[in-house]
Amino acid sequence: MEEGPAERPVEVLIVEDDPPIRQVLSELFSGIGYRSFAAEHGQEGLEVFRARRPPLVVTDLKMPVMDGVELLRGAKALDPDVAVVVLTGFGDVKTAIESLKLGAADYILKPVNFDELRIAAERALERRRLTIENREHQATLEQRVEEQTWQLSRALDSTAAAYRQTLEALGSALDTRDVGTQAHSQRVVGYARMLAEAAGIEEPLLTDVERGVLLHDIGKIGIPDSILLKPGPLSPEEWKVMRTHAELGGQLLSRIEFLKGAIPVVLHHHERWDGTGYPMGLKGEEIPLGARIFAIVDAFDAMTVDRPYSKAISPQVALEEIKRSAGTHFDPRLVEVFLSLPLERLEEIRRKSLE
Ligand SMILES: [Fe+2]
Repeated sequence: MEEGPAERPVEVLIVEDDPPIRQVLSELFSGIGYRSFAAEHGQEGLEVFRARRPPLVVTDLKMPVMDGVELLRGAKALDPDVAVVVLTGFGDVKTAIESLKLGAADYILKPVNFDELRIAAERALERRRLTIENREHQATLEQRVEEQTWQLSRALDSTAAAYRQTLEALGSALDTRDVGTQAHSQRVVGYARMLAEAAGIEEPLLTDVERGVLLHDIGKIGIPDSILLKPGPLSPEEWKVMRTHAELGGQLLSRIEFLKGAIPVVLHHHERWDGTGYPMGLKGEEIPLGARIFAIVDAFDAMTVDRPYSKAISPQVALEEIKRSAGTHFDPRLVEVFLSLPLERLEEIRRKSLE
């Protein structure tokens, strides 16, 4: 026959100062398969408990040296899961109820009906078993969740890093094609992030906006060099072609799952608040929030960096210009937020990009 912990008899500690009752209870418990230990008062009981750690304690309340309540406290301190059934006389029900508050599983009135005690003991042991099982189950679950969260966050970290590197490479490739706007993407992303955060945008939208801003001109990949790199001004026909870069960019990103969230910014980055922009002539809040943010930071960047056809102006003057176009070109509420950003932080982003 297989031997395991389940085969071992359950140990019970009986603490009772009345010798005949102690004796009878010990024998009755042994008779139904328990292994009994007996003690004649709380202190002795606590010593036995400390040595044996039985799962079940049956104790009288009124005893010399140390009473049952003290024993209960001591045993619970050593093993909070111990199942304790107290025995009490009619006159002491109040103490019995008190002992329940201290963690006793049940109380039995004297004279003891052994069937009643046996059932109470079994119920207390079952409850103990369930408590322990639940706690272990809970601990296993928590551990599993923790492990998986850790693995997942590592996987996400490396995936996110790969995405970011790909995007940055794409962004700077675009900068090189578009003559004279060195590190433009890097700066507008920096400004846009600041503005978006100040406007209360949270993840995941924040990342979508950031990616959209970074890749706003990705559609220029599809514009012929003769137009994109033309040194002089564009003809109306050439402008028409140039303007398709917004839609081209949107189409391009629609084929890349992780960049779909960036489409609204890319597609609408040339819309204007008053509806005179392109490609769709959207008006006001019809324009996606990220695209409205982009319009402001892009204008700020265009004014504060030297370009082939225009000298840079100071950030203060640029901010004045933007303020003047609030309500026509730009979302007036966002302009207000942009004007409230600390100038030195905007400057820092600019300085870093020019290093
Ligand atoms: Fe553009």
